[in-house]
Amino acid sequence: MIIGGPASQLLAGRVAAILGEVLALCDYKTFPDGESYTQVTAPLDDKVAIIQSTPTDRDLVYLLQLLDVCQESSIDLVIPYFGYARQDKIFKPGEPMTARAVATALNPFLKKGRVHLVNIHAPSIMNHFCCPADNLDATPLLAEKVASLGLEDPVVISPDKGAVAMARTAAATLGADSDYLQKTRISGTEVSMAPKEIDVRGRDVVIFDDMIATGGTMATAIEMLRAQGAARVYLAAVHPVLTGSAVLKLYRSGVEGVLATDTLDKGVSTVSVAPIIARALKF
Ligand code: R5P
Repeated sequence: MIIGGPASQLLAGRVAAILGEVLALCDYKTFPDGESYTQVTAPLDDKVAIIQSTPTDRDLVYLLQLLDVCQESSIDLVIPYFGYARQDKIFKPGEPMTARAVATALNPFLKKGRVHLVNIHAPSIMNHFCCPADNLDATPLLAEKVASLGLEDPVVISPDKGAVAMARTAAATLGADSDYLQKTRISGTEVSMAPKEIDVRGRDVVIFDDMIATGGTMATAIEMLRAQGAARVYLAAVHPVLTGSAVLKLYRSGVEGVLATDTLDKGVSTVSVAPIIARALKF
């Protein structure tokens, strides 16, 4: 039985369709005092898969409620977008490691369970779960979508060293070159970013990253690459967090197109991670 949380209804439906499993009907609402309410309106199976991204604190509460409902079942927990993944370290004294705190809150429900994440920002987060956890990679799916754009001799770029592995995987699928943007400090306030080795002049570029949040990282990368003579610049990201005016920023910077997955259900979520989640749930 597949149980879709409120942030992952479409994805849960897609996974259930691929696997031919029952999709449970659930009711989610907010009480007048702001508290969240969840009801799974179907008898539970012994084995359930809960699919719920946690882009907001409310989504995390809905997830806890679903886990509590299913505590007698064996649980495969899929968190396609794991909020707080960028708070994976204690950067300053007195700070919590919030990604660990979230895993710790989920652990009591996962003693007989498994966790499936998708391109988790910091793989060390998997170690905070008390049960086996895996990290599914959506890069090849995004790369296949990029291949369908019919770009000629594209270059795959990661905006920093953190996404180099993604860029290499995508480049291998596309049979393309890959590189990463290196920052050079010009002055106290000015930083320039350029590909470490490849000259992008006249070439189409696809920037790969795990997520786009405010769009600041990508907007700067697009502007720099266009100033260096890149032809068309596309973005491919697994998690389209897209806060505030991120989309405006990207298009103002001159992006040609934005591709993302349905770990978060947004207008740019044209690539579904349902096939890789379905495969992980079969084993
Ligand atoms: C950083 O390490 C991440 O991989 C992303 O590059 C970053 O979180 C994107 O954030 P924003 O869109 O706010 O620049």
